Formats: sequence, C-alpha cells, structure tokens
Amino acid sequence: MGGIVLNGKVSIVTGSGRGIGFTIARKLAEHGSSVVLSDYNQEGLEKAAEEFSESGFEFIAIPCDVTRKDQVENLVKKALEKFGKIDILVNNAGITRDTLLIRMTEEQWDAVLNTNLKGVFLMTQAVSRVMIKQQSGKIVNISSVVGLMGNAGQCNYSASKAGVIGFSKSVAKELASRNINVNVVAPGYIETEMTATLPDSVKEAFLKAIPQKKAGQPEDVANAVLFLVSSLSDYITGQVLNVDGGMVM
Ligand SMILES: NC(=O)c1ccc[n+]([C@@H]2O[C@H](COP(=O)([O-])OP(=O)(O)OC[C@H]3O[C@@H](n4cnc5c(N)ncnc54)[C@H](O)[C@@H]3O)[C@@H](O)[C@H]2O)c1
Repeated sequence: MGGIVLNGKVSIVTGSGRGIGFTIARKLAEHGSSVVLSDYNQEGLEKAAEEFSESGFEFIAIPCDVTRKDQVENLVKKALEKFGKIDILVNNAGITRDTLLIRMTEEQWDAVLNTNLKGVFLMTQAVSRVMIKQQSGKIVNISSVVGLMGNAGQCNYSASKAGVIGFSKSVAKELASRNINVNVVAPGYIETEMTATLPDSVKEAFLKAIPQKKAGQPEDVANAVLFLVSSLSDYITGQVLNVDGGMVM
C-alpha cells in the first residue's frame, strides 16, 4: 500500500498506547498523517510518544479516557489547537471483562459497554461536529467478529461490538451527505496483549475455526484501516470489513 498518501491529514486514534491502536497510529503516520495519540494508560501513552519522537513523526499525545465526556471534549479541543482540523477518527479503545452470563456482575457489564460502545458514541459525536463543519471526514470503528457471531464468555463484549456495528451504520446514514464516511473493521483473533491472556484451549478453538489456520497480527488490522481512511474507499460507507483469516464469511 505504498501508494496511499495521507500527507496533510490529521488523525485521532483512541487507545493508541499499545496493541492494535498503536500499530494503526504508526501506520497512518508512516503514510504521512499527523497523529493525535491518546490513551487512558499514561505509561502506554508515554511509550508510544517516545517511539513516535524517535521516528520523527508529527504528533501530540493527549491522555483521554473515552468513557469521560469532559476528557473526550478536551481531546478534540487539544487536537484542534495543535492541528486546526480532524480528518480521520479511529475508535479503537476497547476492553474485555470475560465471564459466563450467569456469573457476570453489573460492573463487568457496565465497564465493557461504557468503554466499547459509549466511548465510541462520545468520540464520534464530538469529532463529527468538527467534520460536519469541514464537510469531510473518515471514521473507522473497531468492532470484532464476536459482535457478528457471539462468543461464550463474552456476552458483554459481543453486545458492545454488535452495538458498534448498528451505531456505525446509523451514523453512516446520517453523515453520508456531509462527505463523511463511517465504516467498521471487525478483527478476528489477533495476537496482542489483550489476547495473550486467553487460555490455551480458547486459542486452540479459535485457530480451528480460522480457515487460514493462523492468528492475525495488528499490522493486518492497520492495513484495513489504512484503506478505509484513504481516498481509495471514498465510495464505501456503512460497511463492516472482517480481518479474520476467513473465520466469518
Ligand atoms: N486482539 C484481538 O484479537 C481483537 C479482536 C477483535 C477486536 N479487537 C479490538 O481491537 C481494539 C484493540 O485491541 P487490542 O488487542 O490492541 O487491545 P489492548 O488491550 O492491547 O489495547 C487496548 C488499548 O486501549 C486502551 N483503553 C482501554 N480502555 C480505554 C479507555 N476507556 N479510554 C482510553 N483508552 C482505553 C488501553 O489502555 C490499551 O492501550 C479493541 O477495541 C478490541 O476490542 C481486538
């Protein structure tokens, strides 16, 4: 994808302190975008900022918990103060609190829905106000294949990720005439710190269900996001792109 050019673009990536979010942020920067790194984990954010400095990328790093409206508004304000516009938003921040339905606490339910779904709402609402004024923008929301197929032990997470898909399709319809594209990337089993803690039996079950017989890498997800934030996808909106080695088809 060497031909994709994001020079002059400004991107916000939530949860970019590590994992898939960091790899997405780096990919967009490598293709010329200025990047607003953000995460609620201060240590991760500082490490990401260090790597961006060493690479000579243009960026700022702003701490932000996506579940907090005041922090989301501050993030957008700081991005505008520094760069004057926002072209690209990638809603990547996400958490899991896995357990079976019968054991799930209200706290586990609320934490996952607040981060994975309400966080996407707050960020998208704040940034879309800017994009509507600009009459342009690209929004990519990171869902998951389990939002499409369900997964035992993840009813909170699956509900949040299915919610992201319904939310994104609705917003895609609302914003299409404003020249704003809203799409979803649904990763399958990707090797990150989030999935490193899964029991071996769960990992084996995933691998059995993947026609390509291997886990994906953060880079695979970042490549799909790169396409969806670039002009190559200008006529694509409201779509879900699975990056899953064929797990769901
Ligand atoms: N790893 C996978 O196999 C996989 C599969 C499907 C979907 N996903 C999704 O991809 C995204 C990234 O996953 P990952 O594997 O890189 O996870 P990760 O845990 O490695 O990284 C998630 C990042 O989000 C940040 N974060 C969490 N809650 C936040 C909040 N409230 N505000 C701001 N930042 C917050 C964390 O601090 C962390 O830096 C998530 O949305 C996840 O649900 C991952």
